[in-house]
Amino acid sequence: MGVVIPLEENKNKQASIKPLVDLTKVDMERVNQLILSKAGSDVQMIPEVARHLISSGGKRLRPMLTLASASMFGYEGEDHIKLATSVEFMHTATLLHDDVVDESDLRRGKSTARMIWGNQASVLVGDFLLGQAFRMMVEVGSLDALDVLSTAACVIAEGEVLQLSVAKHMETTEDDYLEVIKAKTAALFAAAAEVGPIVARTSKSERNALKSYGMNLGLAFQLVDDALDYGGKAADLGKNVGDDFREGKITLPVILAYRRGTSQERAFWKDAIENGKNGDENLGQALALINKYNGLSDTIARALHYGAIARDALAPLPDSAWKSALMDVIDFTISRVS
Ligand code: IPE
Ligand code: IPE
Ligand code: MG
Ligand code: MG
Repeated sequence: MGVVIPLEENKNKQASIKPLVDLTKVDMERVNQLILSKAGSDVQMIPEVARHLISSGGKRLRPMLTLASASMFGYEGEDHIKLATSVEFMHTATLLHDDVVDESDLRRGKSTARMIWGNQASVLVGDFLLGQAFRMMVEVGSLDALDVLSTAACVIAEGEVLQLSVAKHMETTEDDYLEVIKAKTAALFAAAAEVGPIVARTSKSERNALKSYGMNLGLAFQLVDDALDYGGKAADLGKNVGDDFREGKITLPVILAYRRGTSQERAFWKDAIENGKNGDENLGQALALINKYNGLSDTIARALHYGAIARDALAPLPDSAWKSALMDVIDFTISRVS
């Protein structure tokens, strides 16, 4: 089963991050070098654990946003390299922590660090990377950038804790869910895009434009990710399909199917999510109900809505290859593997 994605505006255009990858290629080589060197430590287990996750790839989307959002305003210094590296370290730390919280086995197509070195090592190496991220921000010396990124670090943690507190409550509303994904995911996209204009010392309105672009792109990104958790393929995602169901995590496809369902169907969801009947034998029924109530296609429709807001946020900026590459990221995000 795949997700049907109505990309009306781009029917003939292959949505891609290639333009962004090409434009940021030289800078990203430097970012990747810095990532590897700052993951180093005399405590041998730290680079082992960090490099396991780092070398398994990842799209490096957030640091590319930082590089592009500085370069599009003509920035020619060095600070965006360190800030982009900080942003990817914050993301890497979040993933190490998140896989512990979610008890996930697979990440980027490989065993999670916690499966190899255990939960304790994963949490602590995540903390190390966060610390390294903040040291690099201090080296850059922009209090505004430090403000934006440190605030994002707090907000991400708040989002993950908020998600814990709404977990397994079938009465979770779409608004509760949006609050969670805005904090746990969109805040870092917003910060990644906002620090570019900060180092480029451009105007407040351009800074706000990039922040809004990042925030709405991040919302679209997580909505699509949550649709793919039910509608994607593990081989494409590098993580297991159905993880959210097995964890009892309430995401939008489930919220929609629950709220639109009959009382009998709602009883199924309560049993599955609240009473722990969320084994693989019930995943088929969950998928059938999500499909019956258009849970995936309507989740993608919401993603398209936030994608459109991201597009409008950038619209007033002067046309450039950078702007066009950032616009393409919106389409890429929404038409990721089906
Ligand atoms: C995964 O983010 C975490 C979410 C916010 C869903 P990515 O899909 O960007 O992860 P990598 O870095 O490419 O592996
Ligand atoms: C990813 O969140 C980590 C954060 C955004 C904090 P999820 O738990 O929803 O995503 P995956 O499925 O593990 O990548
Ligand atoms: Mg997770
Ligand atoms: Mg999680």
